[in-house]
Amino acid sequence: MEFQLTEDQLMLRDMVRQFVEKEAKPTVAERDEHARWPTELVRKMGELGLMGVAVSEEYGGAGMDYVSYAIVIEELSRVDPSLGVIASVNNSLVCYGIEKFGTEEQKRELLTPLASGRMLGAFSLSEPGAGSDAAAQRTTAVRDGDYYIINGVKNWVTNGDHADTIILMAMTDPSKGTKGITAFLVDTHAPGCRVVKVENKLGIRSAHSCQMAYDNYRLPAWRRLGEEGQGFKIAMTILNAGRIGIAAQAVGIAQGAFEAALEYSKVREQFGKPIHEFQAVGFTLADMATRIKAARLLTYEAAWRKDQGLDFIKDASMAKLFASETAMWVATKAVQLHGSNGYSKEYPVERFFRDAKITEIYEGTSEIQRLVISRELVR
Ligand code: CAA
Repeated sequence: MEFQLTEDQLMLRDMVRQFVEKEAKPTVAERDEHARWPTELVRKMGELGLMGVAVSEEYGGAGMDYVSYAIVIEELSRVDPSLGVIASVNNSLVCYGIEKFGTEEQKRELLTPLASGRMLGAFSLSEPGAGSDAAAQRTTAVRDGDYYIINGVKNWVTNGDHADTIILMAMTDPSKGTKGITAFLVDTHAPGCRVVKVENKLGIRSAHSCQMAYDNYRLPAWRRLGEEGQGFKIAMTILNAGRIGIAAQAVGIAQGAFEAALEYSKVREQFGKPIHEFQAVGFTLADMATRIKAARLLTYEAAWRKDQGLDFIKDASMAKLFASETAMWVATKAVQLHGSNGYSKEYPVERFFRDAKITEIYEGTSEIQRLVISRELVR
């Protein structure tokens, strides 16, 4: 058993922490207020190697492990959970998918610029009628010589309006159910792919989530990811890894909210003493710290299992389930501990409270995580 981070992981954590404290913190509230996309920060994350943390150096990545990746997402999210999800989607939903399932040509042409931050990626599975029931795909892809013709509407595409490449799932043979779904690597700059709207959201507002439409979009066949009919399996495999990223995002949100509450409890005085001296407050802080530690250990362990080549499906879902519910619980308590000030946009806990909620929803709701875990338990 080894609970110590390596020297490299500690240095990485410090580097990301300094980056967000200096570069992201001053603008995080304003970007949230105006749902403003962080163009400059995304560029810098690319330069720092944060967009392809676990991608091999051969394909433009930083060549680190998945524990390091979890540390990066946690640290980004501790200050700005929008940056956390932008990076998480690019790293684990897109780069990981291409590195695992892509051809050599796809890795050279697409993975290398995505992992090095010169291009941005998105992942597109959800549809108006396909949320938790991801197999209910209505988007179609019909083979036409060296092309596929794609038609349909996709929802909740994180990074959609700024992405260059999207991993898109579409039906190639509706008679085969999940085995009729195929994955594609969409070039968003080609005609026929458009952003219908950017959602006006409760939280993670600086990260954009889009509805996108495909109207007779022509995709060259070399951009198919994997074989025809493998798309559902590819999407599920990608999401297994992605869930570690969202668990890490949730740990970061919980940590950010906790630190704000701890600080406030030291400076806020009522009845003649700092409020942390009241047992109700002190015990709440103790419970927060304990739950965050448990969530972090679950998350790092799931990442470690992936690094060791062990099965990690159940572990990633457990980490995501527990960490996201921890983030929501901690953020709620942090608002309560601030009293009326917690309800004001002048304090960061109000934003963490709104940002935490999505971690219980995307990349599989808490209910879907329980379904995955319970299925794995009896496998
Ligand atoms: N890992 C690998 N393979 C898996 C898998 C997993 N976790 N779950 C299912 N599969 C495989 C099964 O083994 C099966 O393969 P075979 O046919 O070869 O045996 C195949 O997929 C079909 O599986 P099921 O019959 O279990 O499929 P199902 O229709 O019952 O659905 C589900 C399973 C777990 C409910 C799935 O639909 C699911 O995960 N839903 C949630 C979807 C989700 O997470 N969406 C998030 C959207 S992405 C997002 O949020 C993006 C963003 O931008 C942040």
